[in-house]
Amino acid sequence: MTDSPAPSPHGTRGPDLQDPEVLRERALAALLTARRRTTLLTDSVDDHELTAQHSPLMSPLVWDLAHIGNQEELWLLRGVAGREAMRPEIDGLYDAFEHPRATRPSLPLLAPAEARSYASEVRGRALDVLESTPLGGPALVRSGFAFGMIAQHEQQHDETMLITHQLRSGPAALSAPEPPHATDAATLAAEVMVPAGPFTMGTSTEPWALDNERPAHRREVPGFFIDTAPVTCGAYRAFIEDGGYGERSWWAPEGWAMVREHELTAPLFWHRDAGQWLRRRFGVTEPVPEDEPVLHVSWYEADAYARWAGRRLPSEAEWEKAARHDPASGRSRRYPWGDDDPAPVHANLGQRHLRPAPAGAYPAGRSPSGAGQLIGDVWEWTSSDFLPYPGFAPFPYREYSEVFFGPEHKVLRGGSFAVDAVACRGTFRNWDLPVRRQIFSGFRTARDL
Ligand code: AVJ
Ligand code: FE
Repeated sequence: MTDSPAPSPHGTRGPDLQDPEVLRERALAALLTARRRTTLLTDSVDDHELTAQHSPLMSPLVWDLAHIGNQEELWLLRGVAGREAMRPEIDGLYDAFEHPRATRPSLPLLAPAEARSYASEVRGRALDVLESTPLGGPALVRSGFAFGMIAQHEQQHDETMLITHQLRSGPAALSAPEPPHATDAATLAAEVMVPAGPFTMGTSTEPWALDNERPAHRREVPGFFIDTAPVTCGAYRAFIEDGGYGERSWWAPEGWAMVREHELTAPLFWHRDAGQWLRRRFGVTEPVPEDEPVLHVSWYEADAYARWAGRRLPSEAEWEKAARHDPASGRSRRYPWGDDDPAPVHANLGQRHLRPAPAGAYPAGRSPSGAGQLIGDVWEWTSSDFLPYPGFAPFPYREYSEVFFGPEHKVLRGGSFAVDAVACRGTFRNWDLPVRRQIFSGFRTARDL
């Protein structure tokens, strides 16, 4: 199987992911980066806002903070180092399966100061464990997996906390510079063709890939066309103005039921004022930008738009082939641009900007197929249900992926501006219910040859 990161005469070879000392350094850097972001997200609002519930869909921010510390304690201190529980009485409070999000504000949670000191005490000990643990041997620590998993977990909650920031009312608490412009948007083809043929999907070599991304396996994919960029707000507005939300034939039956029940007329956070579409973004109301990828749409809205446009959503395999397959070498790359780690020139990641970049930005991040902005900007809904790959084995716990497999969850690919590079790869799989739209979700469309 031609799974990256094998040496390639065509792409770059990428970082040395075989050397345990390189991985130890990467784990340290990833843990520190995650904590800087967590600190910013939790220090930018007062204690009242930290403990409040901004939406029944979300936890109070102070829950995410202590849950981050608790997972780190469970996996790095107790799991890797065999330590005793620091505060066994709090485990239940921070078990995501024991208490649904809506009920979390009524739990006897650690207060902000306690949550901060718990998370930082765990972190101090975890860094000692990282320094003193040989990164070979058992699968949990081999290649620094547990440390990489915990850095990814913290970054996933940093994205969750950013969603909570977007849902909170009141003036802006966060700010960031604007993303880059699109330089060649006017001459960029609307779609590219990906010829029929097999490719390698998933990975068996990426050291910190999670269980659902494994193992690498061959997939036969018929030829298809796929958009070079995610669908923009301007294109989506045309669907709205053509009466898309009032025309049953564009919608899956459950999608139509959702539109009628909630009287949906536009993406979440959009409203119309004096004939103009406005949106609320991190506490600021602004005109909807025409050329920016549409955000905050459910799978049902993406599916309906695609049908209206005479197209369809890409399957997960099509998305990954368009993103990773290199026809020159026959290999699948780690990322669309090659095997190098994401740099700011490649993709809009890591909350560096608090919005997607315009369609056509990041020419250096395009894949061999010619598609761009596959990584970063907006999570992209695919037509696929979240299912295990052939040969899947739960690791290190069933509750990460396995309990979510099934037709009720749809797969999203590519990551958003809110995802850190450590939690985003060409193989990374996210999933959610098809009604969800508070997430940083958009989509691109495809069609058969
Ligand atoms: C992979 C983003 C769906 O946030 O529910 C965090 C990640 N799992 N803590 C989620 C996760 C456990 C998960 N998603
Ligand atoms: Fe979690």
